[in-house]
Amino acid sequence: MFRTAILCTLWAAAVLGPPLNKDRQKVLLISFDGFRWDYDLDVDTPNLDQMAKDGVKALYVTPPYLTITSPTHFTLLTGRYIENHGVIHNMWFNTTTQEKKQYYQTQFVNAWWDNGSLPIWITAQRQGLKAGSLHFPGTASSYQGETALVQEVEPRFHDYKNETTWQENTDKVMGWFRDQDLDFVSMYFGEPDGTGHKYGPDSPERREMVKQVDRAVGYIRASAQRHGLVDRLNIIITADHGMSTVKRGPGVDEIILSKIPGFSFQDIAFHLVDYGPSGMLLPKPGRLETVYNALKGAHPHLHVYKKEEMPAHLKFGNNDRILPIVLWADLGYVINGYFPVQFNKGEHGFDNKELDMKPFFRAVGPAFRQNLVVAPFETVNIYPLMCHLLGIEPEVNDGHLSVTKHMLVTSGSSPEEREGDSWGYQKRLFIGFSAMGGFLVIAFVATVSSKLLKKPKNKRSKSLESLPEKVDIKQTTL
Ligand SMILES: *[C@@H]1O[C@H](CO)[C@@H](O)[C@H](O)[C@H]1NC(C)=O
Ligand SMILES: *[C@@H]1O[C@H](CO)[C@@H](O)[C@H](O)[C@H]1NC(C)=O
Ligand SMILES: *[C@@H]1O[C@H](CO)[C@@H](O)[C@H](O)[C@H]1NC(C)=O
Ligand SMILES: [Zn+2]
Repeated sequence: MFRTAILCTLWAAAVLGPPLNKDRQKVLLISFDGFRWDYDLDVDTPNLDQMAKDGVKALYVTPPYLTITSPTHFTLLTGRYIENHGVIHNMWFNTTTQEKKQYYQTQFVNAWWDNGSLPIWITAQRQGLKAGSLHFPGTASSYQGETALVQEVEPRFHDYKNETTWQENTDKVMGWFRDQDLDFVSMYFGEPDGTGHKYGPDSPERREMVKQVDRAVGYIRASAQRHGLVDRLNIIITADHGMSTVKRGPGVDEIILSKIPGFSFQDIAFHLVDYGPSGMLLPKPGRLETVYNALKGAHPHLHVYKKEEMPAHLKFGNNDRILPIVLWADLGYVINGYFPVQFNKGEHGFDNKELDMKPFFRAVGPAFRQNLVVAPFETVNIYPLMCHLLGIEPEVNDGHLSVTKHMLVTSGSSPEEREGDSWGYQKRLFIGFSAMGGFLVIAFVATVSSKLLKKPKNKRSKSLESLPEKVDIKQTTL
């Protein structure tokens, strides 16, 4: 009797295998702040190239608008557009008291982050998984009273560039996976954003920083190997937005709101300007039309919209936190309030249609196909992909697994699904790859000609001027 019980137990163990969570795949989501999609084109990046060979690379990804750090990172964690998750700015603000908190202080304002959308850490933990986060925007806050099981927030005056610290943090996160058996970790690096702002995206300093990022990618993969994680760990590397050069000099007609005829800060109850190319205004009672009429059309590179009339593609209007008038500038321009106070050589925060605002995307691991280049897609789709890899039920979100499924070794679609959608999928795939093929040919020609001409700076601008329609086709079809 006793022996039978033991045998039964042994048999069951042999048939059923180890507990499910030992088989479960793990996910590491990494963001390198401000890594524009083409930053690897004018720098030697052996580790990023190897990662593309071993996994999946997207030509680029499209972030949500507003293309600034906290809002776009929270989209990665929730799969929601910014107007839907509510973290509409890097800065918390109160229009009554005029109080504003900068990026870092805002990390600690729970009410700002916890506005109805749950980041993936919480959802994973509610479904029995373990999650962690290191320096990722949103880590310091709690959500419906919960936080990531393991969380590390950077100190107030953190050196975001220190490569030794990057390596220490990498080993720490790999230790979390191995020793604490975490299933999901999000990890954040503050570069190359800082360098892109300070020196501009076309500077030698930015190219040096991309080399540092590349070394970090090599270190991350080597560390995963050393920690015995490669069979179970999927690594997704992306960013929150890109970077664009700010136009300066005598020929540039700067945007300075106070100089616009008919506009007066006397009519404004609260404003968020002097923050790159985007701004928001709350006019005093009864002054909305005056302010709007003064600004609309006042500068050839300034866009002025009432929040109800925002262009649909920006998906940045339908939220109570967005102020009644939304402003943004064309590439190269920033919005100044009283007088110019912005001196960065690089900026982001522009329309997310702009190629300069697009981040890179790489993924490698047991779930991903190898040596596959895919067409661009929106970053809202990364959330359902991660939920799928973790085997958890996603919250309501704005992404679709169908957009990224073709990156996976096993697509996981049911037979009925495949049959029903087969033609549509093949057609989309065909159109997508045709468009992508065109893109690659242009990019290749441009790369070769610029190499011959020894003018790396012109490489991309040439290849992309002729592209916008194709880019749109790709985005809507894949
Ligand atoms: C802003 O401040 C006012 C006055 O102190 C307060 O009543 C209101 O709740 C605050 N709003 C937010 C969003 O904190
Ligand atoms: C989101 O924040 C706004 C204030 O900014 C508040 O009125 C609203 O109730 C919040 N919603 C949720 C679901 O937390
Ligand atoms: C980088 O960080 C390490 C420890 O994490 C420290 O020893 C080193 O001095 C730092 N380097 C610089 C340049 O600040
Ligand atoms: Zn950023």
